[in-house]
Amino acid sequence: MLRKKTGSVTQELALVPPSKLSIENVSKSFQTATGKVLALDRINLQVNEAEFICLVGPSGCGKTTLLNIIAGLEFPDSGIVLADGKKITAPGRDRLVMFQESALFPWLDVFGNVLFGLKLKPGLTNKDRRDVAKYYLELVGLTKFERANIHELSGGMKQRVALARALAPNPRVLLMDEPFAALDALTREQLYGDLQTIWKEKKKTIVFVTHNVRESACLGDRVVLFSPHPGRIQEEFRIELPRPREMNTSELAEYSGKIMRALKSYRPEQANA
Ligand SMILES: Nc1ncnc2c1ncn2[C@@H]1O[C@H](COP(=O)(O)OP(=O)(O)OP(=O)(O)O)[C@@H](O)[C@H]1O
Ligand SMILES: [Mg+2]
Repeated sequence: MLRKKTGSVTQELALVPPSKLSIENVSKSFQTATGKVLALDRINLQVNEAEFICLVGPSGCGKTTLLNIIAGLEFPDSGIVLADGKKITAPGRDRLVMFQESALFPWLDVFGNVLFGLKLKPGLTNKDRRDVAKYYLELVGLTKFERANIHELSGGMKQRVALARALAPNPRVLLMDEPFAALDALTREQLYGDLQTIWKEKKKTIVFVTHNVRESACLGDRVVLFSPHPGRIQEEFRIELPRPREMNTSELAEYSGKIMRALKSYRPEQANA
């Protein structure tokens, strides 16, 4: 049971309205040593408030590029991305990214890492910030490890710290780029369960990138399948299963089988259509 908070901390922990994202006709190319690569080709995608959407597809199909554009870290050559109707022009605390490698600061302990994201948040005293950081460490089950050094943690614990750090500033959108790819299957499954609980409780809009088709069917309200070179949306799947979802059910296997068949049926010559 999470401890109750008072005053400005309660306000800080209150639910914020999740964002709606509109990706309209977005194209992006990169100049590489071997020529120009069309990473994204006229992508259109609407993500609803509090929707959990998974982007899946083979390497190089533009998933990270799209995530970076939503984060405001990259910009499209053409097209526009809107969060709640406002053009995204820069990174913002309302849209935070969690990467595959936890990207934690090794010179700070667990608590310091979670606190870091709150440092510049206005309207909070230092005590408030510490209370908020403690709350999120409790949420991800790491209270006992708040003074641990980063190098003392397992991969799964590091990703929990990274999740707490991304959640602490209370963003409207959480952008996750293969956050569990480097973890063993058991740790991953625990995190699937925890992430679904946190998402339901905190009502975030989540865009989750993965290579793992079963993972996408387990987590997503919708799975968007991308095809590579040029990066395009090939197909979308709505996952109509109750939550929390377990990885090893036959219903989930049926959905992931369907997505996998679509993934395998892709022929590069379709790209020229
Ligand atoms: N900064 C960059 N400079 C040059 N090319 C890039 C850059 N970023 C991405 N690309 C190219 O754009 C294409 C899409 O890359 P992106 O990283 O978005 O793919 P991805 O779907 O995330 O792949 P993966 O599953 O391997 O992470 C690739 O062909 C990649 O080489
Ligand atoms: Mg990527």
